[in-house]
Amino acid sequence: MTMQSTIRATGAPLNRLDGVQKVTGAAKYAYEYPVEGVTYVFPVQSTIARGRISSIETSAARALPGVIAVLTHENAPRIAPLDDQDLAVFQSDAVAYRGQFVAAVVAETLEIARQAASMVAVRYEEQPHDVELRANRSDLYKPEYVPQKAAPFYAADSAQGDVEAALAAAPVSLDQTYTTPTEHHNPLEPHTTLAIWSDDGNGESVTVYDTCQGVSWRRDDIATAFGLPPERIRVLAPYVGGGFGSRGFTHPYAILAVMAARVAGRPTKLAQTRQQMFGPVGYRSPTIQRVRLGAGGDGQLTAIAHEVVAQTNALYEMTEPAAVATRTMYAAPNRRTTHRLARLDLPANSWMRAPGESPGMFALESAMDELAVACGLDPIELRVRNEPAVDPETGRPFSSRGLVACLREGAERFGWAKRNPQPRTRRSGRWLVGTGVAASTYPAVQLPATAHVAGDAAGRYRVRIAAEDIGQGAWTVLTQISADALEVPVEQVQLDIGDSALPQAFPAWGSTGTASWGWAIVDGAQKLRTRLRDEFGGVVPAAGLEADGAFNGNPEAQQFSMHAFGAQFAEVRVNEDTGEVRVPRLLGVFAAGRIVNPKTARSQFLGGMTWGLSMALHEESVLDPRFGDYVNHDFAEYHIATNADVGEIDVTWIDEDDPHVNPIGVKGIGEIGIVGTAAAIANAVYHATGIRVRDLPITLDKLLS
Ligand code: MOS
Repeated sequence: MTMQSTIRATGAPLNRLDGVQKVTGAAKYAYEYPVEGVTYVFPVQSTIARGRISSIETSAARALPGVIAVLTHENAPRIAPLDDQDLAVFQSDAVAYRGQFVAAVVAETLEIARQAASMVAVRYEEQPHDVELRANRSDLYKPEYVPQKAAPFYAADSAQGDVEAALAAAPVSLDQTYTTPTEHHNPLEPHTTLAIWSDDGNGESVTVYDTCQGVSWRRDDIATAFGLPPERIRVLAPYVGGGFGSRGFTHPYAILAVMAARVAGRPTKLAQTRQQMFGPVGYRSPTIQRVRLGAGGDGQLTAIAHEVVAQTNALYEMTEPAAVATRTMYAAPNRRTTHRLARLDLPANSWMRAPGESPGMFALESAMDELAVACGLDPIELRVRNEPAVDPETGRPFSSRGLVACLREGAERFGWAKRNPQPRTRRSGRWLVGTGVAASTYPAVQLPATAHVAGDAAGRYRVRIAAEDIGQGAWTVLTQISADALEVPVEQVQLDIGDSALPQAFPAWGSTGTASWGWAIVDGAQKLRTRLRDEFGGVVPAAGLEADGAFNGNPEAQQFSMHAFGAQFAEVRVNEDTGEVRVPRLLGVFAAGRIVNPKTARSQFLGGMTWGLSMALHEESVLDPRFGDYVNHDFAEYHIATNADVGEIDVTWIDEDDPHVNPIGVKGIGEIGIVGTAAAIANAVYHATGIRVRDLPITLDKLLS
């Protein structure tokens, strides 16, 4: 190894290393792998929300030329249960939600499979269903209950001091309810699996190309379901077209594709249609959030209560942890957060970008804005006055906390000082103009990972880890981290990711990837360099040299509270006649540790903020309670922000040197960009119009009284 001093790769705005492959179409996605003799599977979905299948008539479908098999609960192979009972595909006659897979056709072509699926006649014994989340459900047969935990590992409730007494005594207090709708994540690449069974004489094995956020989890779930040792399953996902939480966990489509391939005895492909992407794939639970704040006339908080009701389902419980961020944000001696769930006859909700923080910070940061108005204080000053010295929940010091720095930097860049706090005072023709601010946060978590690092005598290094690039830039940033850890230029590093045969790692999930994978890579590189120096005098031997890296958990996570923070600023224009809301300007300032690649990082923040705008103004999955299904289940009717909706978005960050989070100093940036944007926009809408919208999305009807 040449011990040259290199330009540090981390911190450089390196172009995506996979950029050329992607724009030229050379990057293959799961559905695109050419396979000899491939078959296609298309699911039949239930048309009732609750009940059981009384009969399934498949003869017409089976008679269609080109049909290979029709799978139902009556003939499907038995598979082992997993925690998520939604994965027990065709294992019983029970129906737990509308859209559940109740049968599937395997055929020679996609068209035949789809046509035959439409010919499967399913009869049901229907039972009454309950699909609506409402506050105060005591009159309903499925009352709210206390979940075991708020996802992924937080206590459902927290309490400190006497909130009721403090609220009663507070000179200024606020008691408001904020609601957010069901939202569906829709990565551009739909959920897709290509499954290939083989038998080498020593037993069966399966190769799976899958649109997953992590190959290790997918491999383990498939191994469990089909009763095979994990090493007999190989999951490959070198390129994945977005994730956003929708494919962290395994969903039924992947199990179905593997099952169908086994039954067909041939490779099988499944790609969910866009409409099916509003089905059994996870989504964000709607929330009903009551926030109560008590404060002195100086804005000093004496009490914070944040009580959340969200929904779950019969098959897999996931609690949208909407009040968890409130535990960390602001100092107050009396505090309470609670999460309650209503179990409904709907598909399983799951992870969606910044689960918890995304709806939760809309509520808290709207309430903080309302409190600022009530106290006659600037909303930035209110937040600064309530900045905690230590984590209010745990009493631990923050490893670093950049909220005030972000607010101050943002105020400067945005021109906040010029703002007249009085609402409805700025206009441009028929447009009312306003500005708003809100805070962002997301926890900095690191999860165990392993890596393998090898060097050869020619100075080439190969770094192998079962990490995943779902578009966030892992191909690029892990190469940069590897290059610096090995002290070589990036050109000398070859990275292997997206393959379950590689050293195990958690998925691209919870903004943990770069920190966790990077730590294992740094460990492997350091071990390799130590051996190189101590045993080989700094020269890689002809036979090459290798080392295993591992990261088993951050001991300092027990000593410090670790979170990224940010500040979001919005300017809005609201048309006085039509209620239309435009957002000409957004600014996000983030403090998220070290930024490994300013180019890919900016893209992450920008994407998150764009989604926050979309959440504020557009996104809502509209449920028809009669059927228990979403009526706007496509891109024509599920509105998302498009280019014309997005004005100028300015993204910047505060340099933060945090020695406690990991050797690279990163906090994770995948989710924080969406957090707080909706509140900043809602607060700006209030400033423009004097109308406080506490129910997302902010559609024009809510502004026309
Ligand atoms: Mo992200 S919602 O943790 O995949």
